[in-house]
Amino acid sequence: MAEALLRLDHVSKVFAGGHVGLESIDLDIAQGEFLSLLGPSGCGKTTTLRVIAGFESPTQGRVLLDGQDMTALRPCDRPINTVFQDYALFPHMNVSQNIAFGLSLRRVGSAEIRRRVKEVLELVGLPDKVQARIGSLSGGQKQRVALARALVCQPRLLLLDEPLSALDASLREHMQTELKRLQKELGTTFVMVTHDQTEALSISDRIVVMNAGRIEQIAPPDVLYDRPATQFVASFIGTMNLLRALPTQKQNGRIRFAIGPFWQPVIALDGTTLLPPDRAVTLGIRPEDLVLTELKGDEVLNTTVLSVAFHGRSLRVQVEAAGGQALFADIPREGEQARLVPGQAIGLALKKDVRPPVFMH
Ligand SMILES: Nc1ncnc2c1ncn2[C@@H]1O[C@H](COP(=O)(O)OP(=O)(O)OP(=O)(O)O)[C@@H](O)[C@H]1O
Ligand SMILES: [Mg+2]
Repeated sequence: MAEALLRLDHVSKVFAGGHVGLESIDLDIAQGEFLSLLGPSGCGKTTTLRVIAGFESPTQGRVLLDGQDMTALRPCDRPINTVFQDYALFPHMNVSQNIAFGLSLRRVGSAEIRRRVKEVLELVGLPDKVQARIGSLSGGQKQRVALARALVCQPRLLLLDEPLSALDASLREHMQTELKRLQKELGTTFVMVTHDQTEALSISDRIVVMNAGRIEQIAPPDVLYDRPATQFVASFIGTMNLLRALPTQKQNGRIRFAIGPFWQPVIALDGTTLLPPDRAVTLGIRPEDLVLTELKGDEVLNTTVLSVAFHGRSLRVQVEAAGGQALFADIPREGEQARLVPGQAIGLALKKDVRPPVFMH
């Protein structure tokens, strides 16, 4: 990567009382990137944003912008703006006054302010709301005004904390597309916090998955989905079956995995991965990577159907393998396959060329 626009260098945050909010965070954010921070509640997403913005000072480590240490700079002295989750608009000011506020603080001339307010309202799709009262706006419109207010100052970096969480599902999806479009159009670097993995996957150039104050993995969406680095990431992104298995004999360059309690060799992978023999591992298998097959054969997982759920183009079938491991398989709705019933015995096999991630214990 070229030199980072923003770098977090070994950033830790211990709160008064001793709670560790962030533990040695290293993160490079490139100019023009749309980066999302994703993780469960309390994992440190907002704390990371607050450290970048300067509302929180790290206990250890540095925050660098263009290679310059800005750890000690006040928030207002950083070329960074934040869109807060609750928008934090001034209710007694109208739309244009809200947007102009930061510019007047910077002593920008009134003609220039009018021009920039008009331009930014067009950008967010609200050209006719210049004089509107904040109270008269819908949730989605308030969201856009908050965005306009942050963008009008032309920050190098825009921070967004759960910007879409107050919106209903359809507006939310629409605004995701809008945000992405705006970001690409402006070329501004966006860092967005979300705990919605679908949102992060659809909108981001890269995603940082956090867990308990640490970074688990930083990667583009498809890499996170296909090659999760840890079991935590695997279970957090999409639906993933986690199967305990034992690597057994290696044949023709393929390792076979046995699933308990009968330790049938049910799955085989090309054996490029170095695995210690006879040590249990966990295989991560996506529901869409399993296919229905006959109830026999070496590399077939014999299972019993527990339930069948309608999932649009496919059926999500929950099955139980010998030994009680439950897993999901997505089965196309066509023909015979659509007539699965609970209690039925079915065979499942891994689709050809699929290489599930293997997690060591
Ligand atoms: N000022 C503070 N004093 C003490 N503990 C704090 C403070 N701010 C945050 N924490 C704790 O630090 C941890 C991380 O908080 P943070 O707000 O960054 O989480 P988050 O990932 O944004 O979660 P959510 O998805 O719920 O917003 C939490 O356990 C939180 O309780
Ligand atoms: Mg938060």
